Order: sequence, then structure tokens, then C-alpha cells
Amino acid sequence: MRVYLFVIFTLQCYTSIGAHSKLTIDEFFNATSFQSVSLSPNGQHLLVYTRKPAWDLNSYDNSLWLYTTDGSKKELITTQYSVFMEPKWSPSGDWFFYYGNDKVTANSTDDRELYRHSGNKDSKSQQQIHVYSVTSDELLSIDIGKATPSALTWSATDSSLYFAAQSTESTEDADRLYEAEWKDVIEYRRRKPNYGSVIQRIDIKRKHGKVSVKLHSIKHVDFIVSDLLLIPSEHKIVCVSMPEMFENLSDIDLYAIDLHDTSSLIRLTNNQAIETNLQLSADGKHVFFQVYPLKLENETFSSAQPQLYSIDLTNGHIAQWGKGFQGAVRDYSIRSEGGVFILGQLGTNVHVYIQQSVSQYACLAPGWHGSYRSISSSKLEQYSSAAFLYSSFDRPEEVYFTKHIDGLPWAKPVTHENQLLATRSLPRAKLYRWINHEDNRMIEGILHYPPGKLGHKNLPLFVLIHGGPSEASMNMLHADYYTWAPLAATEGWLVLEPNYRGSTGYGDQFLNEISGQLLSRPGRDILAGVDSLISDGIADPTRLNIGGYSFGGFLTNWLITQTTRFNAALSGAGPVEHISMWGTTDFPVYVNTLFRGFPWEVPEIYEKESIMSKLNAAKTPTLISTGTNDIRVPADQSYILERSLTYLGVPVKLLLFPDEGHTLSNNPWHGKIKAREELKWLAKYDHVPQAKVET
Ligand SMILES: *[C@@H]1O[C@H](CO)[C@@H](O)[C@H](O)[C@H]1NC(C)=O
Ligand SMILES: *[C@@H]1O[C@H](CO)[C@@H](O)[C@H](O)[C@H]1NC(C)=O
Ligand SMILES: *[C@@H]1O[C@H](CO)[C@@H](O)[C@H](O)[C@H]1NC(C)=O
Ligand SMILES: *[C@@H]1O[C@H](CO)[C@@H](O)[C@H](O)[C@H]1NC(C)=O
Repeated sequence: MRVYLFVIFTLQCYTSIGAHSKLTIDEFFNATSFQSVSLSPNGQHLLVYTRKPAWDLNSYDNSLWLYTTDGSKKELITTQYSVFMEPKWSPSGDWFFYYGNDKVTANSTDDRELYRHSGNKDSKSQQQIHVYSVTSDELLSIDIGKATPSALTWSATDSSLYFAAQSTESTEDADRLYEAEWKDVIEYRRRKPNYGSVIQRIDIKRKHGKVSVKLHSIKHVDFIVSDLLLIPSEHKIVCVSMPEMFENLSDIDLYAIDLHDTSSLIRLTNNQAIETNLQLSADGKHVFFQVYPLKLENETFSSAQPQLYSIDLTNGHIAQWGKGFQGAVRDYSIRSEGGVFILGQLGTNVHVYIQQSVSQYACLAPGWHGSYRSISSSKLEQYSSAAFLYSSFDRPEEVYFTKHIDGLPWAKPVTHENQLLATRSLPRAKLYRWINHEDNRMIEGILHYPPGKLGHKNLPLFVLIHGGPSEASMNMLHADYYTWAPLAATEGWLVLEPNYRGSTGYGDQFLNEISGQLLSRPGRDILAGVDSLISDGIADPTRLNIGGYSFGGFLTNWLITQTTRFNAALSGAGPVEHISMWGTTDFPVYVNTLFRGFPWEVPEIYEKESIMSKLNAAKTPTLISTGTNDIRVPADQSYILERSLTYLGVPVKLLLFPDEGHTLSNNPWHGKIKAREELKWLAKYDHVPQAKVET
């Protein structure tokens, strides 16, 4: 009888998945991801920066490709290992620049570490900016000194660019005197006399077929410049200041430099927020920027979802775009016809919205469900084409192009990098909603069913918790160590990705409901989701498992102190001890916001949300993993958890990834080995239901 049932079952399996074969872990981690997409001003060319594992080199290869949008040509411009800066088109669109030395292999692409180490941990080799002509195929490589540039932009013409790089020590004599006095001792927080960045202009001159290049120093500023934009009509440069650590949000703001009087430095914003991604409006008078707001002042500890703002450079007036939109602004692009395209995340989808002017509402541009990313539009008025990245549960990410935004539902793929994934038997996903009865909030999550098992009951459960917390699990397929739900589902797990309280896409209030309850509230949202799956008969109550990375690791660490119902736990780069986390992370202001204050101001919250003081309740076998160079969630957090669980006699293993920061972006083996071991850990401990201590 049993055998008979099994035969019928496998037959059903084959008919429902047809000829598609199973996705392997090697295939999953061999996928291509996209760093950026950039459409030329006339809409005829497309720059696509891809990132692929270079397994033999223990690295990634970042390749810049030039496509024609009519599909007639695809050309490799450069391949670099672990170096990336977004390429940009010149004003006429005849040229683009890209950065990087083909010979040099820098070790870190983690943004924060790039800021921290550029300049002081100098490569000692000449840095180069390359400009390439799409009309003549001419390539010009420009030496810009030894400091890594932190920002780069075109001027008003094709023959000049601006860049910022960290300034190096002024005189070698001063260096020698300092070293004689201090040897290798570091004075923490001491700024070198010349600390900051130098903004320089590159002038390219052509005479009688000869090209000459000159560098002019424009201004020294006493901060790291993370973004740079020239405003030709106002004869100004606008830049964003970025500190080495997020200790004080006043360190991050927009500044303007008047090119007629470069002694000036005008502060344009003064807010408790992080600004990024400067773009110039079509009328040339407004600078757009994205804002990640965090509020710390006046006892109002709150954060809001990422937003879009513009500043009028003629009068300093700041306006918010996409007002009334309940979700998060993920990206945007200036439209040649005026206004902007906004990529807005609402629930688990990111759609394209069009906003004509600041006083109008953003309107949905009908397209596909799923996640749009990195939209880029043509800049000359007679063209209105757009290029973007798109992915959904069953469509791996590719670059798409449409001649007009009205044609969004008929956009054509330009790349076919991840076709292999699409031919595999992928898990089916659907939304799942439940109520946290504590305060009757509805919570949404994504359920990934093992291939061929959509709608089946009593499945073994793995809850995969996203990081952030101000992020979300979304309708997309990105094959990496962080969003690996499809791989886990392929291995037989029913995967729940909960968009717990604190996630983006559900309104600012939903985000803020974790303030002062950063672990207990989202933790209970997740436990309520597990209860709901059990009472709906979908999850097998004896086969429950959890895991996550970053904030997802933080929640995992808390959850194992609250219940012994989970058979196995996967804790990736998760904090465990609040005060040492606050004291050593590069992002302490965010920790403050989540806890509503410093450890000495609200010790009761630190205690109420404590993991360490409740850790003796933990029984769940836990696999921990961390990058050794992580500065966001320092590896110390993982050592503390590993030592504690070892003393407590709970099965535990710690995986250390050398030379990796928080994003495990240096060596593709690390992410793959992490997922391989995590799958093994789940398989090993899940089938042994633990002894329930209390009952
Ligand atoms: C990864 O993909 C490349 C093609 O992009 C292929 O040559 C290689 O064999 C693949 N490696 C694995 C391990 O699947
Ligand atoms: C990158 O890191 C590895 C391992 O620490 C080291 O051997 C190599 O020299 C580094 N490369 C560069 C360019 O710093
Ligand atoms: C942050 O920096 C501003 C300006 O430099 C300063 O006025 C303020 O006191 C600083 N805040 C904290 C908490 O240190
Ligand atoms: C704090 O905020 C409240 C209400 O938002 C306001 O009435 C009060 O004046 C503020 N206090 C300070 C010191 O800014």
C-alpha cells in the first residue's frame, strides 16, 4: 500500500514539473547579478555592469558591457575583480566614464569599508579613470593619483569631469615626525591635519590629433565625499558628506560649492537622515536625492521609509516627492519630459510610478508584478525610453528595455544572463497573511513551496528572516546567500519569509512599531505566523526551523531564547549583546533609534529586550556564521553567542569567513559554503525532535 502511494505521488510530481530538472546549489550560486544599468541620453546604448563568480580566482568578476538597445551589438568594455563604481554617460552621450585599474585587485567592495580604507590604506598604485567613446571606440585612461576616488561626475561638457578623493598627508616631513613620535600607535578619533577630500577637475584637451589631460584642484573639504553633481546653470557643485562611522547624523548632509568662489561651502540640508543618489532635474535647477530618515532628537525616536526629495538651488527650498505613497522609494530616475520615475515598494512588489510635478500624485505605470530595480531613462527630450532590472518569484533578474513607458508590459529582455535558472524546476511562491493577536496587526509573508508541492499540507518549515529591519522580503528571484529561499524550498523546505513589524512597504507606522520593542514585537509577529501555519495544517508542528542574516540573525538569536519549538537555527551576522553591539558597530545611531536611547538612558529597554540574560533557556542547535572583518555587526557578537552556547551545552558551530565584511562580497565560495552548511545543519537537526524541557 505504501509503495503504491509513493508511485502515484512521484508520477504526479513528474507531470506537474514536466521536463524541468532540479535546481542545484552550484547552479544557484553561479547566477549573475547586476550592479547597475544605465541608458545613454539618446536611448541607443545601454551600459550593464554584471557581477559573476570567478570561482578559480576566489573572487567576483565585474564586467562592464555596452549593448545597443536594438539588440544588434554587445561588447565587453572591461572586466575587473572586486572593483565597482557606477559608470556615467557624458552630457552629449558620446562618451561614458568608468573607474578601475585592470591590473589591481582591491579586496573590498563593501561600501562602508571602501570609505574607511580608501586613502589611508592606499593601494600605492596609480588610480585611473577611463573615458570611452561610443562613436569612435576611442579609450582614454587618465591617471588621477594614488587615492581611490569616492565620487565622480561629468561637467557640462564631454571634455571635463570632476572627482573627489581622500586627501593624503600634506608633507612627508610631517609624516616622519609623527611616526617618530608615535611609532605604530593609533590615536583613535584623531583626524590628520589634512583629513577630508580634495575635489578636482579633469580637463581633456585635443589639439592636432593629440590629447592632453590636466588636473586642477578645486577645493579641500573636511569630509569624505560620497556623491558629486555639477549644476551648470548655477555654476555649482553639490556633494554629500559621509563620515567613517554613523555616529552623528549631522555628519551626513548636502553641501554646495560655488565655482565662482570656491572658498564657500554652503550647507543645503540639516536633518537627521542619510542622503544618497544625487540627480539633476530636467530643468537643471533642482537636485533630487534619496533620504533614509532616522530621528533621534526631542525624545521622538522614529524612522521612516526611504523617501525622495528635491532641493531648488535658486532658493534652497526642499520638497518631498511621492507624498502620500504608503511604501518605500527604492530608486528613481529623472524623466526628459519633466518629473520622475519612482520605483516604489508596496507590500512585496516594487512597481514603477510616474510623478509629473511635486504638486501632483505619483501614478502607477501599469507593468508586471514583481520587483523593478535600477531604472534609467533617456535624457534627450525627443526620446522617452527606459531601461531597468526586473525579477519576480519565477523570473530571475535580467535587464529590460522599452521605447516608451506606456509599453512597460511589453518590455523586452536585453540580457539573458540567468536563463539557466528559469529552465529549472523552481518553487512556487504565494503570499500568506496572519494576525498577531497581541495587537491585532495583520502581518504578511511569502510562502515558498517545494517544487511540485504547492498547496500541500504538513510540510517541514524553515522561517527565513530578512535583515534591515527596514527592508522586506519581496516578489523576486535573486540567487545569493541572503535571499536563498528558492534554494531551501528546492531542498524540500516550506520556506516562510515574514515581513515582520519594522519592514518597509507597509507604511511608516508599521516600521516604527518596533521602536523600543525591536526584538520582542517582530519576534512575536514571526511566532504568530508559525502558529498560523500550524493551525492551517500547512506546517508540520514537529518540524520547525528558523534562520536569518543580519537583523534576521538578531531575531533568530532572540527567538531561541523564547521557545524550544525550533529544531535548528541559522544565525548569520546577528547581534547578541546589545551594549557591545552599540559600542562597536559603525552604525550606532540606528541602534539608538531602535532602543529609544543610550544604554544609560533606557537600561530597562536594553534589559527587557536582552538575549544574553535569557540565553540559558536556549536549547536549539545553532549554526552561526560571520565575516571576520564585519564592521556593521562585528564578528565579536558571533563569538559571544558561540561561547555561550558551548558552555550551555547546546549544539553550536561557528563559521568564519576571512576578509569578509557584512555583505560577504569578496569571495563567492563563502556564500555558497554558508548555504551548503546551513542546509546540512537543517537536515541534521530537524529530524530529531528535541526533548521539550517544560512539558
Ligand atoms: C558557471 O557558469 C559559467 C558560464 O557563465 C560556466 O562556464 C561554468 O561552468 C558554471 N560553473 C558551475 C559550477 O556551474
Ligand atoms: C586580498 O586579500 C588577500 C588575503 O588576505 C591577500 O593575499 C591579497 O594580497 C589581497 N589583495 C590586495 C590587492 O590587497
Ligand atoms: C552632532 O554634530 C552636531 C554638529 O557638528 C553637533 O552640534 C551635535 O552636538 C552632535 N551631536 C551629538 C549627539 O554628538
Ligand atoms: C519636542 O516636540 C514637541 C512635539 O513634537 C514640541 O512641542 C516641543 O517643542 C519639542 N521640544 C523641543 C525641545 O524641540
